[in-house]
Amino acid sequence: MNLTHIKIYNDYDKMSAAAAELILDVVRTNPEAVLCFATGNTPVGTYRELVARAKESGTDFSRCFCIGLDEWLGVPGNKSGSCKYILQEQVFDPLAIKQTQVHLFDGLTTAVEAECEKMNTLIENKGGIDCMLVGIGTNGHIGFNEPGVDSRLKAHEQVLHDSTLDAGKHYFKEPTPIKKGITLGLAQVMQAKMLLLLANGVSKSAIIRKALEGEISPAVPASFIQQHTNAYVLLDKEAAAELTL
Ligand code: GLP
Repeated sequence: MNLTHIKIYNDYDKMSAAAAELILDVVRTNPEAVLCFATGNTPVGTYRELVARAKESGTDFSRCFCIGLDEWLGVPGNKSGSCKYILQEQVFDPLAIKQTQVHLFDGLTTAVEAECEKMNTLIENKGGIDCMLVGIGTNGHIGFNEPGVDSRLKAHEQVLHDSTLDAGKHYFKEPTPIKKGITLGLAQVMQAKMLLLLANGVSKSAIIRKALEGEISPAVPASFIQQHTNAYVLLDKEAAAELTL
């Protein structure tokens, strides 16, 4: 991986501002860009900055297309912790992005394979994802691609690991049963024309070192980023603390 694309910032806010600027650049260069967004705690600041800076600069999001990285299976999109709810609240509503510009996994689907196929076909028909923003789980997952995942997979269903379920619980206001997720696959992460991986805080420092400096292996799904030809890794000082390169 091109090491110049690993950027370390003094704090979370600076990291978030830089990530927002990268996304804004993509949309300014190509107003019809296909964007893919993760949820979780990590990108909250990026979305806040994206919205503020888009408004300030008058960046036009009316022709872009947005895809969701993943979703909890069995959780309706109107529930506070669902990826749909979060993206709607943090990105789509504030940027006035219309429903016709968005495609997300339906967490309530009873036909998971068809749901995955719909997503795969849509991405292909759109000519691929121009910019994909992802976080990283403490076990090295990207989206819901858990350790051991087949890196050739596109959208698929995934039984979630305990650490993912533990972290996931905190996204919901009320107790919500979660067990499985539906996610874009590593094949689609690797095919994104530009990949932004964000991580902040001391809890991510060990996995960031493994992902960026360790062996490339399904045991650490995020390690495949080392083979991506246009990936940006944006870290705060704490998440970068164990890097040696
Ligand atoms: C979650 C999501 C991922 C997210 C990751 C990290 O389980 N499925 O899309 O990037 O874990 O979450 P956080 O940013 O809250 O640490």
